[in-house]
Amino acid sequence: MTATTPEPLTSDDDWWRSAVVYQVYVRSFADANGDGVGDIPGIRERLPYLRDLGVDALWLTPFYTSPQIDAGYDVADYRDVDPLFGSLTDFDAMITDAHALGLRIIVDLVPNHTSSAHPWFTAALAAAPGSPERARYLFADGRGETGELPPNDWESIFGGPAWTRLPDGQWYMHLFDPAQPDLNWRHPEVRAEFEDVLRFWLDRGVDGFRIDVAHGMIKAEGLPDVGFNSMTTGQRQSELLGKGRLPYFDQDEVHEIYRAWRPILDSYPGGRMAVAEAWAETPQRLARYIGADELHQAFSFDFLDATWSADSFRKVIDTALAESTIVGAPTTWVLSNHDRQRHVTRYGDGEVGLRRARAAALLMLALPGAAYVYQGEELGLPEVLDLPDELRQDPSFLRTGESRDGCRVPIPWSGELAPYGFGPEGSELSWLPAPATWRGLSVAAQTGVPGSTLELYRAALRARHEHPALAGTAGGVVWLETEPGVLAFSRAAGPAVLTCVVNLSGAEVTIDGYGQPVVASADLTERGEGHVLPVDAAAWFERR
Ligand code: NOJ
Repeated sequence: MTATTPEPLTSDDDWWRSAVVYQVYVRSFADANGDGVGDIPGIRERLPYLRDLGVDALWLTPFYTSPQIDAGYDVADYRDVDPLFGSLTDFDAMITDAHALGLRIIVDLVPNHTSSAHPWFTAALAAAPGSPERARYLFADGRGETGELPPNDWESIFGGPAWTRLPDGQWYMHLFDPAQPDLNWRHPEVRAEFEDVLRFWLDRGVDGFRIDVAHGMIKAEGLPDVGFNSMTTGQRQSELLGKGRLPYFDQDEVHEIYRAWRPILDSYPGGRMAVAEAWAETPQRLARYIGADELHQAFSFDFLDATWSADSFRKVIDTALAESTIVGAPTTWVLSNHDRQRHVTRYGDGEVGLRRARAAALLMLALPGAAYVYQGEELGLPEVLDLPDELRQDPSFLRTGESRDGCRVPIPWSGELAPYGFGPEGSELSWLPAPATWRGLSVAAQTGVPGSTLELYRAALRARHEHPALAGTAGGVVWLETEPGVLAFSRAAGPAVLTCVVNLSGAEVTIDGYGQPVVASADLTERGEGHVLPVDAAAWFERR
């Protein structure tokens, strides 16, 4: 432990069960040094904003030493901060301040692959085929007469073959970019290294880990073919994510890794946790990642694919709640993250999309379990759809034409001109440009403005903490009879009942009998004994 190691927050070991976790996409959150890229001192300066917003924890995307080929998901040194984002001293100061404000810190762990600039990989490249240095990764000879064909038909998630050939003839495997070689998790040194990395960050006071590609570390023995890929049948293997079996995902042996990690997490005080970014064929298989001897949570990504309809949302909620019942752990809700189009845009963009996104926020925040809020959704930010191609940086863009840059545009904080206070006073730099339409969406433009999306999130988060039926893990979901296209459920704690109603019906509806409104995503008008809930709106009502 270092002298500056902060004390963990110890009040509640089960904090993660009902936490609202704010995802900080570090390079786009706040830029303290004016180089146009967000950094850790920038996060530190903005901690009071997050405390006032009412979230419980922050998940920071990777800030480790990295060539930044995949925005930091290509790690060259797991125990240091990239100078682009600051230093370990900055990290320690940030976590100390966060804890002092009651905010927990979750960091991203990237164990499936390293950067090609990692010393292990450079040593592997310098060493001969069959050498111990190569054994830490997945090197193989090719097929064909002279080994000119990749060892199997596996495809990179970013498009193209999952294999790259070296001048000496061998191939190495990468499920993502060629700059992200996959590790061989059957190698004891790899396992020991990551157990040590976990301890390194736990010693520095982190409260948890988000595990990147948590389902990917073990590949099927013998590296068997999938049987098809975009080259042969036109179907991309990644289309099976979350729906089918692939020899490089969700292998049974991967659970051994988490069974070794859990005692490490449990040996630290204060409820240290881990959440899996995992994709599995069935809810039952996904549930295997969670439990008292493995990880605490696995993201439920179903909301990301839900369309704006009562049936679609109801199905997502019922499935996720059933999944969590299987393992006896609470679920997690995600409307947006740094890999998907922002939900304002998914729901129709413009005013309609914003109205729906605000309603979806009230739906998500009324549900039991943990909610993950992606930075900027509290401002109602849409996807930026018209970024010039030459500015796009996502490595998958070049390979597939699909780019995740539009949801990664820096946060607008204040001011009249882009980048809207992203950097220090007077700084005009930002690694991606914010559109002119974001002026009215900045934090400053929305603070204290009744009805703004920011104030809606603040009010909802306050009520979520304070209302007995929403606080903690109280109150399961009880669905109520409604008109078609309207979702309504209650949660109760003793006599206190909170009812969330979402109107996806396309026509206004009158809500009566659920008590007084607590928070609403659009203006409610009184009608008789009840209230009119407009189209694409949601509201919470309470009875005590
Ligand atoms: C999932 C991360 O969320 C994504 O941003 C990244 O590109 C891949 N894993 C590879 O690490």
